[in-house]
Amino acid sequence: MSADWAPKALLAALAFVFGLPQGAALGQTTDLSDAAQRGQQLLLQRQESGCVLCHRIPGLPVGGDIGPSLHGLAERANAQAVRERVVDPRRFNPVTIMPPYFSLTGLHNVARAYQDKTILSEQGLDDILAYLMKPQGARR
Ligand code: HEC
Repeated sequence: MSADWAPKALLAALAFVFGLPQGAALGQTTDLSDAAQRGQQLLLQRQESGCVLCHRIPGLPVGGDIGPSLHGLAERANAQAVRERVVDPRRFNPVTIMPPYFSLTGLHNVARAYQDKTILSEQGLDDILAYLMKPQGARR
């Protein structure tokens, strides 16, 4: 697949195919900062992020296998590199199927409603990073 698709449409299609709930139920999240809790919720939103369509993520009740598991990510990866990847995974793999969440370059056939809009807001990106980069043991 090339960059010739609209990320939001792809996510919506995947969410439909996998039948994920809009926001799956979560257990207690007592040890998380506010930002990390917002990030956790956002990670579960199939329309807003769609991450769980492709990834298994510690502390989340649903997850997919299209992309690699993100278990152990905080322990092995550098926060800046993870941020860059979520902003625009094409920097790491030009033919990736992962959507560019905070980039508007090189997109084609984007539905009018989504033109000039990144998938995530900067706040959303920060919140997701806050959750993803928490040591695994701190998530319940
Ligand atoms: C359509 C499927 C898909 C979606 C949706 C998706 N990813 Fe990915 N992701 C991938 C694939 C495939 C890879 C493997 C590298 C590549 O091919 O680009 C990857 C790689 C990654 C990596 C690097 C993993 C590692 O082991 O270093 C991170 C971090 C990541 N994704 C985070 C996210 C986050 C956060 C979201 C949501 C904001 C997300 N992904 C949404 C498919 C997806």
